[in-house]
Amino acid sequence: MKILDGKALANKKAILIKEELKKLSFTPKLVIVLVGDDFASLKYVGHKLKKAEALGINAELVHLPKSTTQDELIKQIQKLNNDKSVHGYIVQLPVPKHIDDKLIQEYVDPSKDVDGLSTMNAGRFFQSGYNYIVPGTPSGIVQILKDNDIPLKGKVVAMIGRSNIVGKPLSLALLNENATVIMCHSRTDFKILKQADIVISATGVPHLIKANMIKENATIIDVGINRDKNNKLTGDVDFEDVKDKAYAVTPVPGGVGPMTIICIFQNLLKLIKFQQNK
Ligand code: GUN
Repeated sequence: MKILDGKALANKKAILIKEELKKLSFTPKLVIVLVGDDFASLKYVGHKLKKAEALGINAELVHLPKSTTQDELIKQIQKLNNDKSVHGYIVQLPVPKHIDDKLIQEYVDPSKDVDGLSTMNAGRFFQSGYNYIVPGTPSGIVQILKDNDIPLKGKVVAMIGRSNIVGKPLSLALLNENATVIMCHSRTDFKILKQADIVISATGVPHLIKANMIKENATIIDVGINRDKNNKLTGDVDFEDVKDKAYAVTPVPGGVGPMTIICIFQNLLKLIKFQQNK
């Protein structure tokens, strides 16, 4: 079985990003807005800031208390929209429950939307419109598949999970690559997975995907970042179980995660190009 090494690919992409950065006459500025102290978010934000520093991007964290109101967060977003020194920003999700995350996305300026989750960017992506970007995790997964010469055209992909961050945009990105996408979720009869050449799991259920659920030589993309009983990082896929049946699998850690992070910076560069061509 082949290991789809997202970390190695992210390192290759980092070299290209550094080359692109050298062509700019300024250092791009990325702002990450984090509301509250969600444990996983603190970790992801730490990784993003560290990567920005390694690439030579000026990244700033705006860390707001959990008690921040929706109006205060909207004001913070409007401030970033109006700040000419800021090229892109991220509102780290999840936001605390008293804040409506869908309303927040109405305020994110698509020209600074590194995550691609704003209402306007999502609409442009849906319509294959102008100056849109593909959200990080979907973009990273398509790049992993392409870099490993795993064909998508006409192939059946089972996408498990229908979140706004992964499942929905990834199904669209795969459709754009001419894959036949089956959208699966908690109410799906998983017998359908046997038809899939590629199974992508973004459920948050540790070890959900077993060998007896997949087709021989299927490729499996594991988007899960879970903790098992021993607090060990584990994906949605039972790696040991599937390893003799699958053609290829992304490991956790070292698979999708590093590519999700590198895509933030690819997207930032893309936004800068859009901003310059205005
Ligand atoms: N939380 C988990 N993944 C993501 C992501 O890709 N973007 C943001 N903003 N928050 C996240």
